[in-house]
Parts: sequence; structure tokens; C-alpha cells
Amino acid sequence: MTYTKYKSNLLFFLLFSLAIAADFTAAKTHLFSRNVSPKTIGLKREKLSHLHFYFHDILSGRNPTAIPVVEAATTNTSSTSFGGVWMMDDPLTVRPEINSKLVGKAQGIYASASQSEISLLMVLNFAFMEGKYNGSNLSVLGRNPILSGVREMPIVGGSGVFRFARGYAQAKTHTIDFQTGDAVVEYNVYVFHY
Ligand SMILES: *[C@@H]1O[C@H](CO)[C@@H](O)[C@H](O)[C@H]1NC(C)=O
Ligand SMILES: *[C@@H]1O[C@H](CO)[C@@H](O)[C@H](O)[C@H]1NC(C)=O
Ligand SMILES: *[C@@H]1O[C@H](CO)[C@@H](O)[C@H](O)[C@H]1NC(C)=O
Repeated sequence: MTYTKYKSNLLFFLLFSLAIAADFTAAKTHLFSRNVSPKTIGLKREKLSHLHFYFHDILSGRNPTAIPVVEAATTNTSSTSFGGVWMMDDPLTVRPEINSKLVGKAQGIYASASQSEISLLMVLNFAFMEGKYNGSNLSVLGRNPILSGVREMPIVGGSGVFRFARGYAQAKTHTIDFQTGDAVVEYNVYVFHY
């Protein structure tokens, strides 16, 4: 082998290796799925947290926190308001008093989903504003028969400190005004997260 031929072979080998390396990198960056260790996304040990707060659902007055948004033609003649849908942005406070410390908001929809009792479909996010929970959210999807003692609704997920959340929320009516529908509801939330 001449020296020049050796040189061109070496060059070819180098270019070939670079091409393979580039292809490998591209394959890695365009990978659709892979297994990762929980550590790579900063997950440490799973923990259980208990949150306690009061939910204020205000329908009356000039600044309601929940408003009717849509209903069926028959909703106003239904004893359970079947078909009615409300949108809420309800304050969550540490004590039952509305002017006690605000720890978050319950933002979402509730809809009357039963023809035989007053039971709501709840689809909402708790958006927290307190301490280490500030900016983190929990998502709730559940059934809420509001005249029952304690209602339980699943926590189906979360964001921020509540990534990978699962758990349940227990709701217990603290006070209700049957004239206006205004209610204060005590919540106990138990949630697993990292
Ligand atoms: C119920 O609402 C419908 C419109 O959706 C209206 O035509 C009807 O008069 C209402 N009935 C009562 C009892 O308010
Ligand atoms: C929550 O975070 C926002 C922005 O990140 C900040 O403006 C606000 O003061 C914080 N609230 C509390 C109660 O820590
Ligand atoms: C939580 O929800 C708020 C809106 O209420 C949003 O601005 C924020 O980005 C969410 N937090 C995370 C960690 O996704």
C-alpha cells in the first residue's frame, strides 16, 4: 500500500466513523420513547400530603364566584336542575371565614348530572398559592352528591410539586344557604406525590 493510498483510506475511515456517529446522535435525539430512571427528572421519594381548606361557592350578590353558563330547556323544571352547568373560580381559605388567608382557587365546572338526587359532576383544578405549593395544581374529577355528609372525589393528577399526583378529596358542607345556594365546604385532600 502506497503512502497516499493509506492516507485516503484513513480519511475514508474517519469520515465513515463520523457519519455513523452523527446518525447515532440523530437517532438518539429523534427517539420516540425510551426508559428513564426517575432520578433523571428529579424525582426522589414519594410522599403523602394532607391539605385542609375551605371552599367558598358564592352564587348570590354582585360578585358571584360561580355562574350558570348553560342549561337544557327542561333544567328549570327539574327538581335536581338536571342539565345545568356552572363555571366556578372559588376561593380556598385556611379557615371557614371568607376573609381568612387565601391558599388557592378551585377553577372548573360543575354540572347537575342526576335526575333522582342533587348530584354534581365536578371537573376542576385546585390552583394553589400558598408556600411551597404556590403555582402547583391538582386536578379533580368526581361525583358530588352535595346533600350527603362526606363526599369523596378522586384526585387524578397534578403539576409542579404535584406531578404524578393521585389521591382523594373529601368534601363536607360547612354552611349552606338554601335560599341563595351559597355554600362553604370543608375539604380534606390526601395526595401521593414526589
Ligand atoms: C324554562 O326555560 C325555558 C327556556 O329554556 C322557558 O321557555 C320556560 O318558560 C322556563 N320555565 C320556567 C318555569 O321558568
Ligand atoms: C406565588 O408566586 C407568584 C409568582 O411566582 C408570586 O407573585 C406570589 O407573590 C407568590 N405568592 C405567595 C403567597 O407566595
Ligand atoms: C398551575 O395553574 C396555573 C393557573 O392557575 C398556571 O399558571 C401554572 O402554570 C400551573 N402550574 C404548573 C406547575 O403547571
